[in-house]
Amino acid sequence: MNLSDEEKAMRDGRDGPAVARAMDLLIRYGEALDAQSLVETRNVCGTVTATTPFMRDFAQAQGGLDAVFSEFNLDSAEVVAVPKVRAFSSHLQLGFDPHHPAEMGISEQTLQFYRQSEAAAARMGVQMINTCTPYQVGNVPTRGEHCAWMESSAVVYANSVLGARTNTEGRESTSAAMLTCRIPNWGFHLDEGRLGTHGVELDIAVESVEDWGLFGYWLGDWVQDRVPVVRGVVRGVGRAPNLPRLKHFGAAASSSGGVEMFHLVGVTPEAPSWEAAFGGRSPIELRRYGARERQATLERINATATDRQVDYVMLGCPHYTIEQIWEAAQLLEGRRVHANCALWIFTPRAIKSLADRNGYTQTIEAAGGKLMTDSCSAMSRAVPPGTKVVALDSAKQAHYLPAILGLQAWFGSTEQCIEAACTGRWGS
Ligand code: F3S
Repeated sequence: MNLSDEEKAMRDGRDGPAVARAMDLLIRYGEALDAQSLVETRNVCGTVTATTPFMRDFAQAQGGLDAVFSEFNLDSAEVVAVPKVRAFSSHLQLGFDPHHPAEMGISEQTLQFYRQSEAAAARMGVQMINTCTPYQVGNVPTRGEHCAWMESSAVVYANSVLGARTNTEGRESTSAAMLTCRIPNWGFHLDEGRLGTHGVELDIAVESVEDWGLFGYWLGDWVQDRVPVVRGVVRGVGRAPNLPRLKHFGAAASSSGGVEMFHLVGVTPEAPSWEAAFGGRSPIELRRYGARERQATLERINATATDRQVDYVMLGCPHYTIEQIWEAAQLLEGRRVHANCALWIFTPRAIKSLADRNGYTQTIEAAGGKLMTDSCSAMSRAVPPGTKVVALDSAKQAHYLPAILGLQAWFGSTEQCIEAACTGRWGS
């Protein structure tokens, strides 16, 4: 790998042992990927805090949080003192919502350890945004900006909708990037890696959040980790896909497959035309998406569900926007969540404070629901006690909860989910 003098100096210890470990990690990682160089980044989103009992015990046995960061973030058996970050760095979602520890099954001891860990991360200069949707709360990279982000739903949004450049990184590589402002220069950092490979023609209008979730799920299942280009997205007033729709689309495509970038012709920034999205090449394969594909996908996502009595409704995967909270609050106004059902809605903390000020939290809580932050059921592996059947408006969460927790999952629109929360039943 070609290293600049600056990078060699960091590797050789000029800036202390933690930076040297970080550079060593990035060089090993980049060489494994056949990257020719590192690229500068000033925008990193990763996981910094220690929230598991295992890490708590490790910290106690090995001498504190620097030991956790050295081992789990820098792959260093030697404990190094962790300096302040150099890159603008954001902490993503946690393993639980610290404001609802009882619901998440979190002990007081774990909560206290988490608070110490969060304070340590903040002292390092990391922004504690605690969400899978950094682009909702002030971290909005510009077109062409090189980033180092974790979290598949955030990565596909950054690449496709914002035109930023990032691969799906991990805890270790993002931590090393925070200390060095570097990440291996390969994949979606390069022009070549961003060009379309597979083409889709739409035969039906894809309009609602549910439509976009279904389409994304179908698409990811087909193209896996390739770059799809979609032609035929209906535009016009109120019809161009907005943030919630593109958020659900990318999250679904990166769950059924590993899509890290898509192009919507005439909508996303690197697809002014079909030809431009493919860089003048021909698609490897072309398919059409119509009513038959939509119906088959809906049946597939709902394949685990047979029991219409719903115990739990979870909304907010990826974390809800303020618009989605507003919509949910309107649907709940004057109603009550059924006695045999629970409703949890997840959003970033910054958006929850807006919802608090707007009165939406009060409306949701008056109906018997909860507005929660920092995590989600899949991430926390936490659902209300006794849950067997869940209803969701997220194809991503419907993909994971049956697999992770063995639940039956109904997938549908937000309206259907709120109806299920208030009646305790899915459908008629
Ligand atoms: Fe976010 Fe959890 Fe979904 S972390 S993308 S809400 S699986």
